[in-house]
Amino acid sequence: MGYKLFVLPGDGIGPEVMAEVEKIANFFTKEGSASFEIEKGLVGGAAYDAHGVAISDADMARADAADAVLLAAVGGPKWDHVPYEVRPEAGLLRLRKDLKLFANLRPAVCYPALADASSLKRDLVDGLDLMIVRELTGGVYFGEPKQIIDLGNGQQRAIDTQVYDTYEIERIGRIAFELARKRRNKVTSSEKRNVMKSGVLWNQIITRLHDQEFPDVMLEHQLADALGMQLVRAPKQFDVIVTDNLFGDLLSDVASMLTGSLGMLPSASLGAYDAQTGKRKALYEPVHGSAPDIAGKGIANPIAMIASFGMALRYSFDLGALADRIDHAIAATLDKGLRTGDIKGNSTVTPLSTTQMGNAILKELQAG
Ligand code: IPM
Ligand code: MN
Repeated sequence: MGYKLFVLPGDGIGPEVMAEVEKIANFFTKEGSASFEIEKGLVGGAAYDAHGVAISDADMARADAADAVLLAAVGGPKWDHVPYEVRPEAGLLRLRKDLKLFANLRPAVCYPALADASSLKRDLVDGLDLMIVRELTGGVYFGEPKQIIDLGNGQQRAIDTQVYDTYEIERIGRIAFELARKRRNKVTSSEKRNVMKSGVLWNQIITRLHDQEFPDVMLEHQLADALGMQLVRAPKQFDVIVTDNLFGDLLSDVASMLTGSLGMLPSASLGAYDAQTGKRKALYEPVHGSAPDIAGKGIANPIAMIASFGMALRYSFDLGALADRIDHAIAATLDKGLRTGDIKGNSTVTPLSTTQMGNAILKELQAG
C-alpha cells in the first residue's frame, strides 16, 4: 500500500521546486524503498484563478484524506488586489486551521559547506542546529475580532486579537519538550510577558508544564525581542525554541538567514495523534515564499522543498533512514561545491538551475 501525498505546488517558484520533489518521490517508488501515490491540487493564486477561492472545498477534502500534504508556496503581485478573504495566503491559513496543524517545526541547520554563505561570521553559524517550534493555529493570526472599523469621524480603527488558551500553550509546549529530549535537552520559551497578558500566561503554563512533566529538560525564558537579538549574536546557544504564531513567524525568518539562505529551510506542520488510527495530519512546506521576482526563471533553490519532503518521511511515515538519505544527498551535493544562485555567496561558481540542483541531489540518492 502506498503513501498518499497530496501535492500543492501553489504559485511563483512553487511549481518549479515541487517538480524536483516529485522526481525524488518517484525515484523512491521505483527503487522500492517506499511507495508514494501523488495527487495534485491548487492553492493560493492558482486556486483563485481557477475557482475564485484560495483553496476549494474539494481540495480541502483531498488534503484531509491524504497521509501528508506537501505545499510549496503561495502569493504574488498578480493577486495583490483580490478580496482579503480569498487572498492566496488564506488558502494556507485554512489548511493549517481546518486540519488543526497546531505545531510548526522549523529546523535551522547550517550545512558546513554553506557557512560562508551566511551573513554572519563562519564560527558563529558553522554546525548550527536549532529547532523553532512555532504555535500555528492560534494567536493573532486567528484571534477575533479581526477587523477594520469606521469610527465615523474620518478615522478608521484596525483590530487584531492576540489570544491563547491554556490547552493551546500546553500542547505546543509538550511538543517542544519532547523534541528537546531527543536533541540536546534544552528549551527556550519566548514571549513578551513584559507587555502582553498572553505572554504572562504563556510563561506560567510553560513553567508549570516543565515542573510537572519535564523537569529533566533544561528550560529558560527569553523575551521575544531579546531572543531575536541573541539569534544573531550567538545562535548556537539554542536547541529548541518554543514561541507563539507571530513571534515564530518572525524569528524563523531570522533563523533562516543564519543557514545561508531562506532557500534552505524546510518545515513541518503537525496535528495531534488521532486516538483511533494513531495517525496525525501533517503538512510540509518550505519556510520561503513564492519569490515572484525569480519565478519562471528556473533558478530557484529546491533544497528547502526537498528537505520538507524529507521531514514528511521522518514525521509522517517513520522512514527516518530514507529521510537521512535525503539529508546526506543534500550535504554531499553542497560538499561538491554545487550551488544555486542564492547560496553562491561571493564564490565564482556558475550557479545551477532548479532542475540541475534537483538532478544532482537525485544522482547522490541513486549512488547511495
Ligand atoms: C510562513 C508565511 C505565512 C505566515 C504567510 C504566507 C501567511 O510567512 O509560513 O511563515 O505568515 O505564516
Ligand atoms: Mn513567514
